[in-house]
Amino acid sequence: MNILLGVSSGIAIYKAVDLVSKMRKQGWNIQIIMTENAAKLVNPIVFSAVGDCKVYTDTYEIEAGWIIHTELSKWADVLLVAPATANTIAKLANGIADNLLTTTALAFAKDKRIIVPTMNTRMYENELTLENIEKMRQHGWHVLEPESGHLACGDVGKGRYPENEKIIEFLKIIMSEKLLKNKKVLVTAGPTQEELDPVRYISNHSSGKMGYAIAQAAKRFGAEVCLVTGPTCLTFPYFVDEVVLVRSAKQMYDTVLEKKEDYDILIMCAAVADYAPKMVSKEKIKKTNDNLTIELEKTPDILYSIGMSKRERQFVVGFAAETENVVENAFEKLRRKNADLIVANDARLAMGSDTNSVYLIFKNKAMVQLDGTKEEIAEELLKRICKELS
Ligand code: CTP
Repeated sequence: MNILLGVSSGIAIYKAVDLVSKMRKQGWNIQIIMTENAAKLVNPIVFSAVGDCKVYTDTYEIEAGWIIHTELSKWADVLLVAPATANTIAKLANGIADNLLTTTALAFAKDKRIIVPTMNTRMYENELTLENIEKMRQHGWHVLEPESGHLACGDVGKGRYPENEKIIEFLKIIMSEKLLKNKKVLVTAGPTQEELDPVRYISNHSSGKMGYAIAQAAKRFGAEVCLVTGPTCLTFPYFVDEVVLVRSAKQMYDTVLEKKEDYDILIMCAAVADYAPKMVSKEKIKKTNDNLTIELEKTPDILYSIGMSKRERQFVVGFAAETENVVENAFEKLRRKNADLIVANDARLAMGSDTNSVYLIFKNKAMVQLDGTKEEIAEELLKRICKELS
């Protein structure tokens, strides 16, 4: 993907340096245009070094046969202006082309144009700025809304530069094919915690990374997404429509069962505790005896319940985290829980890791192996599900 980054002179410009680093890690091709004032805040050499890319400023360079603004606008698949100041937005909204960035933007004929407005909250809330942003939206620009919070000037309000991970995801959403348009996807993720007393619980090592990656990829592919998650240390996936935070297997069960009818694809990725303490002690359990026996009872099986009651054209996916006989156990689970697909992996390799190696086990006995990052596996899994549904 060829990205042309336009940098104007917001104080958040230092964060845009890290954005370039993160875009480079994605393997994207980058070229950068900085406005004259932006180049006074951060030397273009910094951007060039971090992005391993060419940085253009208003000091016109002469290259034979190379008219910079038209060539750059033809080269880029996407034009991203971040940070976009009130001044640059005003120019872009009104077709003013008085520097290399605005001239290139005017010549950029594709619909993949993004601004990340970043400025003081009073400037942002000024009617003229809001009107300009709205006008750009109407002319097909995508707008990543600024965040609210503490601003560089000490004010508190809307205008903050968003996290770079969020900008990267916004780019991916805009560039991805909408394979799951008009589909509703529900994903469970993370571990559950089964309370023992007010300070203790039984749980497992699930990080939630695989389920979060699936929810994020489903959003990227245009689905309406609900994530039902146990407690994790992860940032919620960006732009998903609903996140329901639960703790116990029973809470996860109640949430999924209440919602399931509305969803076309249900992906049960959570590492749900199979057993929970039969009694929850009201007070902290004291160390009075040498041995302690805790009676456990089975938790409700979410995947089994939705598998058994699934409606027509509802696709149910289960996960199987095994430590032995991965494939055999997965086939058995597929049948027993009436799933359409089981994603089987070795629990010891999968838990907590950013990468995984999984087998997709289908009802017709087909089997596919996928290796890669959890993000790559999530995308490929959803593509395979789309194929099954088509
Ligand atoms: N699962 C569930 N509800 C439970 C337990 C598990 O929905 N109470 C789901 C998981 O989200 C996963 C699948 O069932 O999609 C596999 O769970 P796993 O614990 O590996 O399988 P079990 O059916 O519990 O069988 P076993 O423990 O014998 O492997």
